[in-house]
Amino acid sequence: MSLIKLINLPSFGDDRGGLVAIESNQSIPFEVKRLYYIFDTTDKPRGFHAHIDLKQVAICLKGSCRFILDNGSTKEEITLDDPTRGLVVEGLIWREMHDFSYDCVLLVLASEHYSEQDYIRNYDEFQGMVERRNND
Ligand code: TYD
Repeated sequence: MSLIKLINLPSFGDDRGGLVAIESNQSIPFEVKRLYYIFDTTDKPRGFHAHIDLKQVAICLKGSCRFILDNGSTKEEITLDDPTRGLVVEGLIWREMHDFSYDCVLLVLASEHYSEQDYIRNYDEFQGMVERRNND
């Protein structure tokens, strides 16, 4: 099964412009407790972590960026450049974001409030956790 899960967001664009409406537990498969956005990006990549429980949907509102998703055995990548599509990232997945366009605005919807305890920021620790889960 692909690591790349894209959802089409409800889009109501017309000749006046684009409009996307997002509702918790509707197009987004969880209750949104937090959102954050990344902007004024540089050539520096971001992410380089996994989460234990958090579910997220990333939507590139403007510009583009490249996501790499890694479940410990497979890596897949996708370039987000469409504000009507969301990338669902859930489960034990290492994520990296690269190649931000100068104008990139990346919105992320999250299922939980911020908790540093939910982060795995060390790749070896991530792989150890994947192996323990596979052996359970
Ligand atoms: P981080 O998640 O490491 O950024 P990225 O994965 O995009 O590289 O977050 C960067 C900093 O911002 C870190 O000190 C934690 C803080 N932060 C919050 O306080 N709340 C949040 O909701 C997020 C996403 C980050």
